[in-house]
This record gives sequence, structure tokens and C-alpha cells, in this order.
Amino acid sequence: MQPTRRPLIAGNWKMYKTIPEALEFVRAFKSLVVAATHCDILIAPPFTAIKAVADRVEGSNIAVGAQDVAAEAGPGAFTGEVSAAMIKDAGARYAIIGHSERRQYYGETDKSVNRKIRAADGEGLLPIVCVGEPLEDRDAGRAEEFVDRQLAEGLRNLTVEEAARIIIAYEPIWAIGTGRTATPETAGQMHAFIRSRIREMFGEKVAEDLRILYGGSVKPANIAALMNEADIDGALVGGASLEAETFGRLVNYKENR
Ligand code: PGA
Repeated sequence: MQPTRRPLIAGNWKMYKTIPEALEFVRAFKSLVVAATHCDILIAPPFTAIKAVADRVEGSNIAVGAQDVAAEAGPGAFTGEVSAAMIKDAGARYAIIGHSERRQYYGETDKSVNRKIRAADGEGLLPIVCVGEPLEDRDAGRAEEFVDRQLAEGLRNLTVEEAARIIIAYEPIWAIGTGRTATPETAGQMHAFIRSRIREMFGEKVAEDLRILYGGSVKPANIAALMNEADIDGALVGGASLEAETFGRLVNYKENR
């Protein structure tokens, strides 16, 4: 049976855009993707702009996500943290978890990723769990081993039901913001590997339905080739999601071939 995974094209704005800048983007972007029915569309603004963006895209085909989420359910004394309940209350439906920048600069670990998945899922937010190897592991032939460990630890003890609600983003660290995209073959191979591991951990159904996004220097010029790979079900886009016209072209990758 052919899997019917609906593609997801997600923009991760990182620490870019004030509220007026975010709304200016939305104004231009909405009309560019209004006819896009082939995929789900997601924008992950900084926390401060989630509510404004969510209000502005309500009723459209654009969803909103957060770039991180507290591991604690709260409410509680956790200065600086934003809970899944607060994110949901602001109008977001997804939460990116374990992005490599969080892991590299802010001490995110597979353990905290695991807790954050539960916190997000507990509030009905869809977790987008990021994995991906550094260059030295890729060069040493240890890329799969590295990602395997992230999956084993990050998804440890999830139930089949919880696993069925997650999305995985494969983002090789050497490809993020570097302009050095993984070739469709390299990415496709890792996606197939991830799916095979998920099959072993959670069974055939979860594996076949799982959406695995590719991230790392995705651009309008390379998205169609990436999306051609059987196991690539969408993209997590950083730099190229910041400008409405460019991200619009990315979402409309089918027409732009
Ligand atoms: P990039 O970022 O598209 O700018 O490489 C991707 C990401 O970090 O999600």
C-alpha cells in the first residue's frame, strides 16, 4: 500500500522578526499560498510574535508553531520558560523540539528533548523533533550511529500513540545555514534509515505514517529534487523562510518545477 503522507513545509524564523515585521510577512505570504492544497504550511515565529501571527492566519491554510517548549508542564516557578499550554493558548499547533542550535548553544540534550515531547504532546501540540549529525561524524562514517542515538534517547519510552503524533526533522548540522545542502540521495538515505528505526521502535503503521522533514539550506532551487525522494515528506526551512516571496516559492515547489 502506498503511504499517504501529506507533505509539510515549515518555516523556522529563529531569532528574526518583530511583531510588525512578522505581520508584514503574513500579509504578503497569505495570498502567495492561498491556492496551495498539496501540503500543510507552518510558520514558527519567535514566541513574542506567535499570537499576532496566529490571529492573522486564522481560518487560512497556514498553521503556527513555536521554536521550543518548556519541559515542565507548569504552571510553576521556571523563569524564562514558556509552557506548552501557553504556546497553545497563543494559537500555535506545533512545537519544534531539539533544534541543533538549542542543542549546541543552550544545552539541550536527548533527555530534555524526551521531556519536551511529552510536554508538547500533553497539550496537543504536534512535536517536530529535530535530529542530525555534525560534520565530523558524517566524515567519519558515523552519521547513522549518531542519529540512531538521538532517536533512541529522544523518543525513549514514548507509547505507540505518542509516537504516532510526532514529526521528525532530519537536519544535518553541516547543512544548516551553510548553503551546503545534503544531496537528495544523502538525505533520502538517512530518511529511510530513520523510518526503519521508527519501524523497529514503534511498528509498521507509525513508521509508514511518520512525516520526516529535511532541513538544512533548503531553497526554492533544491526543494523539488529533495521532495522527489520517497522518504522525504517535507522541509524545515530557516533562512529561506524569512522572505514571503521566497518561502511562497518553496511552498509552491510543485508548480515551480
Ligand atoms: P537553514 O536552517 O534553512 O537556514 O539552513 C534550517 C534550520 O535550522 O531549521
